[in-house]
Amino acid sequence: MGLNFMQACKDDDTTDDPTPEPQEFVADSTSFTSYASWSLDAELMGEDPALGAAHAGNDSNSVRKVYFMDGQAPVNGEYPIGTIIVKETSNDTAFLANTAMVKRGAGFNSANDGWEWFLLDQNGAILNRGADLMGGACAGCHSKASVDWVFTKN
Ligand code: HEC
Repeated sequence: MGLNFMQACKDDDTTDDPTPEPQEFVADSTSFTSYASWSLDAELMGEDPALGAAHAGNDSNSVRKVYFMDGQAPVNGEYPIGTIIVKETSNDTAFLANTAMVKRGAGFNSANDGWEWFLLDQNGAILNRGADLMGGACAGCHSKASVDWVFTKN
């Protein structure tokens, strides 16, 4: 009887974990370096008045390639934690910029539903990052996207 009771308690401990740890994915210097081999899920060209000067949207020769690390897609309107999206902007003569967004989660930047914003160099090394990158300009414009701050895939 006593033994059975102990056993029951033990089982409870292992199977009934009340609150799982909040999941967090923190990108590091290796997270973006192979982006060019990821899933190229959108490619946009030329001027886009909605962009203004952002992402070279005022350059008629601009090419904007959007790579999703594992081809992630939103689930019930939300991208999974660990989603990494890189946008490479170039024109007919030169590389212009790499930007990225990462679904970090765990309460990070809850005003932006857990997204962290990045500027990368041509090889995917991190130049700058944060919740409020470029004084909030990234978030300000991406808040207009219809699904979870992402324009190109819903
Ligand atoms: C003025 C609006 C605007 C600003 C500012 C802006 N973006 Fe974007 N961004 C867009 C649009 C629109 C797209 C969709 C692709 C396109 O039209 O080129 C996009 C696409 C992206 C993508 C690919 C995922 C997606 O949403 O389709 C990433 C990553 C990205 N932007 C990161 C950033 C980062 C980081 C910043 C700040 C450094 C930033 N953006 C600033 C408008 C903007």
